Amino acid sequence: MDKILVHGGVRLKGDVRIGGSKNSALPILAATLLTKEKCVIDRVPDLSDIHYMLTILGRLGCEVERASGVVQIRAEKILTEAPYEIVRKMRASVCVLGPLLGREKAAKVSLPGGCVIGDRPIDLHLKGFESLGAKVVVKGGDILLEAKKLQGARINLRGRHGPTVLGTGNIMMAAVLAEGITDIEGAAEEPEVVDLANFLIAMGAKISGAGTQHIQIEGVPELHGANHTVIPDRIEAGTFLVAGAIAGSRVTVTRTNPAHLGAVITALKKAGFELSHTSDSVTISPNGSRRPLHIETLPYPGFPTDMQAQFCAMLATMDGTSVVTETVFPQRFMHVSELKRMGASIDLNNHCATIHGVERLSGAPVMASDLRASAALVLAALPADGITEINRVYHIDRGYEAIDEKLNALGAHIERVKS
Ligand code: EPU
Repeated sequence: MDKILVHGGVRLKGDVRIGGSKNSALPILAATLLTKEKCVIDRVPDLSDIHYMLTILGRLGCEVERASGVVQIRAEKILTEAPYEIVRKMRASVCVLGPLLGREKAAKVSLPGGCVIGDRPIDLHLKGFESLGAKVVVKGGDILLEAKKLQGARINLRGRHGPTVLGTGNIMMAAVLAEGITDIEGAAEEPEVVDLANFLIAMGAKISGAGTQHIQIEGVPELHGANHTVIPDRIEAGTFLVAGAIAGSRVTVTRTNPAHLGAVITALKKAGFELSHTSDSVTISPNGSRRPLHIETLPYPGFPTDMQAQFCAMLATMDGTSVVTETVFPQRFMHVSELKRMGASIDLNNHCATIHGVERLSGAPVMASDLRASAALVLAALPADGITEINRVYHIDRGYEAIDEKLNALGAHIERVKS
């Protein structure tokens, strides 16, 4: 298993190019199952989660070609079963359910297993499929969907912790080929949902309201092939902005969309950093007066749960007491115990972390647990004393394209040790 050694005490400076969004690309690649014709998707990031999705699509019968960031997929003849051995590696494989049900009126996909960021149910996805007329059975670890036909319906996707992002995508992908009108209420408003809707529209789907809580879909008999460019990854951009905040003099994230970073930019400004932006870049310049924060994660356009761990790393060395409340995945605090091994002072009480800033963290051997927690450990290590050894870095490769190389280009000193 590879590990990363971060030599602390560096300052970062310069520009970093942001890649295509992982969480947009995954459902968009799955949506290519909806047509027999060729689709060409550009700006697909080179990540292990994307590799898993392409493997699943290949096993379902798609012809897949990949050259740098461009993926061409033709799903002329497809199977409807995705077995456990390939599905278990990535929870987002559930997003083949919607397109398989939409096109073939049948799907058999293994139920994703547990996840370190907490219980990740898919009850809302299944409720939505049932509302469209599918019979849903969970048996032997598999989800079985079957329908004679799909009929548009009124579906509320708001759950206990807010709307569901992949659930909204899944129901959109099934409903585009249903008969009649589907009204999704309590839809997720994330930019990744809008990106998927735009791809589906380019394929001939009739969708309005994506980006709001109410999405309306008028079913069509079939979809055709389309070309699409994936939006920039707002979480990768946010992570590099926090890297700039933690260890920077001036860092600019380029090829990004500042409009998608509103809550993160607001929080960094509140913490005392100077930020400026152009139409496709954001620059952070640290100044002397850093302030502690109170943050609560919320569905978009609120502060993203996928940036919570990175902010904990930043607040760990800022004067004063900060409070971070996680409302989307209340158990998503695996990074806290590892940050404490580096000297952070954090009290965890249910879904709330109280962070007492310390002057400096010190390097230590730590364990990456999930994707964003791993990123937080890399960020925390940048200004720390000594060397931080981060084990199990495959977690970070799931969602960050060459994070070590990109940080090194900004002035970091990170080694990847292959084993
Ligand atoms: N939920 C339910 N029932 C459902 C689905 C979700 O109760 O059927 C709950 C979840 O347990 C959670 C909340 O609703 O409390 C939101 O979950 P959501 O379904 O929105 O999460 P997701 O769609 O499975 C995506 C991202 C996550 C990101 C969340 C929230 C992808 C591939 N994943 O997951 O990204 O944290 O939305 O924004 O798009 C990451 O990139 O590190 C990551 C975990």
